Amino acid sequence: MIDNKGENHIGALHDEDYKEKYFTPLINHNSLIYDISRAKESLNGKWNFQIDQYDTFLRANWYSNEEKDQNGLEMPLDHNFDHWEEINVPACWNTESKEYFYYEGPAIYHKSFKYSNYGEDKVFLKIGAANYDSYIFLNKKFLGHHQGGSTPFMLEITDYLSQENTLQIAVDNTRRREAVPTKNTDWFNYGGIYRDVELLRLPETYIKDFSLALAENSYQQLVLNLTAAGENLTDKVKLEIPELEIELNIPLANGKAEAVFAAKPELWSPDNPKLYQVIISYRNDRIEDQIGFRQVKVEGRDIYLNGNKIFLKGIAAHEESLNNGKAVTETEIIENIKLAKEMNCNYIRLAHYPHSYKVAQIADQLGVMLWEEIPVYWAIYFENQFTYNDAENQLLELIKRDINRASVIIWSVGNENEDTDARLKFMSGLANTARKVDPTRLVSAACLVDEKNNRISDRLTEYLDIIGQNEYYGWYIPDISKLIDCMENSKPDKPVVITEFGAGALSGERGTKDDLFTEDYQLKVYQKQTEVLGKIEYIKGLSPWILFDFRCPRRTNKYQQGYNRKGLLSADKKHKKLAFFEMQRFYSEI
Ligand code: GCU
Repeated sequence: MIDNKGENHIGALHDEDYKEKYFTPLINHNSLIYDISRAKESLNGKWNFQIDQYDTFLRANWYSNEEKDQNGLEMPLDHNFDHWEEINVPACWNTESKEYFYYEGPAIYHKSFKYSNYGEDKVFLKIGAANYDSYIFLNKKFLGHHQGGSTPFMLEITDYLSQENTLQIAVDNTRRREAVPTKNTDWFNYGGIYRDVELLRLPETYIKDFSLALAENSYQQLVLNLTAAGENLTDKVKLEIPELEIELNIPLANGKAEAVFAAKPELWSPDNPKLYQVIISYRNDRIEDQIGFRQVKVEGRDIYLNGNKIFLKGIAAHEESLNNGKAVTETEIIENIKLAKEMNCNYIRLAHYPHSYKVAQIADQLGVMLWEEIPVYWAIYFENQFTYNDAENQLLELIKRDINRASVIIWSVGNENEDTDARLKFMSGLANTARKVDPTRLVSAACLVDEKNNRISDRLTEYLDIIGQNEYYGWYIPDISKLIDCMENSKPDKPVVITEFGAGALSGERGTKDDLFTEDYQLKVYQKQTEVLGKIEYIKGLSPWILFDFRCPRRTNKYQQGYNRKGLLSADKKHKKLAFFEMQRFYSEI
């Protein structure tokens, strides 16, 4: 029972297990509703904000404090929500104020809003992403907890709304051993509500989610899988694809509508990013989407797109901009994709966590294939069931969000994890989940080289469609001649994509090709890498590390100064390093 005593209630001071009562209800992928094109009411803008280093909001139940005691005497509360400073939502608190740049811990967001019932039946709150733990409170009631810093989450708030509302969200970006990612990573730990916050109004019965894709091994059949929600789910669902002159009425059974029907869509590809308007209606609910249709598969040691062998001419990218941290804008997303295309890329590895849903939407339109990944990164607590549940939920939230994005061709279940039994069980479980939920895409992970035997060898690859392989010959292994040995020692039975290679260089730093952290050294590594990798038959893609320099507290030498300098562009993306042009050349010749 959560008591509602006010300031410094004695019980709160002695209860170090206070967070247990906020672990559930756990908001997860089951409450996601397909919301693209739906009318939404934005709660973005100025919110009251307070960092809360001792987690007092949760300890002392600030959200439910009474202003007066039972005798009507005023309580000396330790907060005035409306008088706190204001912060932008969406944003990372780190880039909103110098004093919060390195802040890691709990922080409280507070917003009052009016709600007028337009006669709709259900109202949902949607948070596009908040890093890492979020606790939702509406009108003095705790509604739920979400884990995971890069995926959307939703909850129904119909029964808790009134004319005047107080919404409070406690966000905690403390890195934790049992979280996903765990405490140690190679990127900056931004905090806050950094994607949109919106209200979604839905009728009593509505379309919860759907997928629409080409049937397996077919170019002349589409498959619709739709789930509806609400009571008394009878009647039919209407599917329209006007440009294909398709209009179908599909009966619901047990809340589901499934259909396999003839269609010959123009196929989506990076060279021809053809999208179709898809309209689905059910009673007085209606959703639209722009969907591309394509087949991606692996056969032997080849990757096929629409029946043609392809080479993934890629680059890796973090989700970050100097000014906005992880809260990248649409303009910055478009800039990144255009820079990749300028490098003659047809593919981007979105490392190491789900990026904004806008990336896949824009990649659909501009014609770029994507690798999307959950942050099962380095030394995850593989023995912990809660950690597995967290990772699997983030994977399912990502898949549900981007299930109809033609640009997304690969789900990645992690990066650079030690080949142990616990990790094999954990990550093969994730790979199986991805394949079961979405058989239309490929599953991969970025694996480590078997350094002892200097070859590509990782037990997880048995569960993958594509072997993702990170290697740093010429950098962490300075002797680049070992790259050739490694490639010759390896006997993969499926396509290999080199998911990372690279070297650090400070923009503008010049020297000989043996001087570390110069553009000349980085260029030498790239030239040698492309010379060797370009000749290896089983390599069917590259995503060098990385498009642009990015913030990383682990990187402190005189060239790095808080940045990982392996970018092919400077952190402000204003300067292309020499190696950018090596990749541009290499890809132009494939
Ligand atoms: C690793 C890791 C990256 C990291 C990179 C580096 O392979 O996957 O996240 O930034 O190497 O060391 O620069």
